[in-house]
Amino acid sequence: MTYQGLIHRYGQYLDLPAHTKTISLLEGNTPLIPMPRLSREFGCELFVKFEGLNPTGSFKDRGMTAAVSEAVGRGAQTVICASTGNTAASAAAYAARAGLRSIVLIPEGKVAAGKLAGAIAYGAEVIQIQGSFDDALTLVVEITQKTPIALVNSINPYRIEGQKTSAFEICDVLGAAPDWLCLPVGNAGNITSYWAGFKQYQKGLPQILGVQAAGSAPLVLGHPVEKPETIATAIRIGKPARGEQALEAAQESNGKIIAVSDEEILSAQRILASEGVWVEPASAAGLAGLIAESAKGFDVKGKKVVVVCTGHGMKDPSIITESFQSPKLIPVNYNALVDVVGGA
Ligand code: F0G
Repeated sequence: MTYQGLIHRYGQYLDLPAHTKTISLLEGNTPLIPMPRLSREFGCELFVKFEGLNPTGSFKDRGMTAAVSEAVGRGAQTVICASTGNTAASAAAYAARAGLRSIVLIPEGKVAAGKLAGAIAYGAEVIQIQGSFDDALTLVVEITQKTPIALVNSINPYRIEGQKTSAFEICDVLGAAPDWLCLPVGNAGNITSYWAGFKQYQKGLPQILGVQAAGSAPLVLGHPVEKPETIATAIRIGKPARGEQALEAAQESNGKIIAVSDEEILSAQRILASEGVWVEPASAAGLAGLIAESAKGFDVKGKKVVVVCTGHGMKDPSIITESFQSPKLIPVNYNALVDVVGGA
């Protein structure tokens, strides 16, 4: 049978209420891409779970199919979220599909172009706030407590249910859980979901390496960060809603949560692109973490390692165009072309 989306594929493993009415864009089923060069470098079997290939370009679609399906089923008319961008685009797309109104709150000036454009294209009412993601989340929680508007941030338990499916897919492809799972951590919904998913699926448990950006690393510092900063704007979060659960996942899995610098993130982004996988900066944090730990003696030789790349590079094009040379311009002339290309 042709693929019909995550609720159809894995619904029996998801704790969704009976009133759930499936809204799907055929999300999930993303490739687990072998990375031969990185594998050789680390002496391991390294795969990228490329979540940028979901319908709206990020892993958020896994949770959003579940959250919006539940909201529609209970009669919600409007959904709302706070977002660094990807949740906004995903909420807007699934709301559009379901015929719901969507409202998204984003931190002023800190959302990558591809995400903002997506949210607008799918018809969300986009509201910028003069504050951070964390401030936006506080506001949307309050309005959903006082009105029938449905909250679709990962505080919503159905988001976690949907996002568990990536762990299931990895186990289905590899036959068992990998030894290590490396992924970025922002509001900490995703690390929580993976850990819940692996535990539930009973195909073994990975050790989890959660990676924050150094300027936004509350779980590494052990306290909230009032003014989080990082070029990886997706994870520019100072008070993760599921911080406790993220720390539990790291501890129970015998893994850890670490921080990497923006430079390390950008370098990992380039390394992934040089092997054909272009991801947005935050999505490179998992690999950046693996590289940083390896430099300190962390050994993954002979292991299976999955690096979760959460969002597509096209979400944040300016990070590339600003830091690379712009294309050369030549007249329509063969000799001018040869001058540039050389004889190779
Ligand atoms: N990677 C990307 C590309 C993201 O957009 C996010 C979160 C994360 C990683 C971190 O996941 O929050 O579950 O720990 N983006 C949210 C948003 C906050 O609003 O789009 P997390």
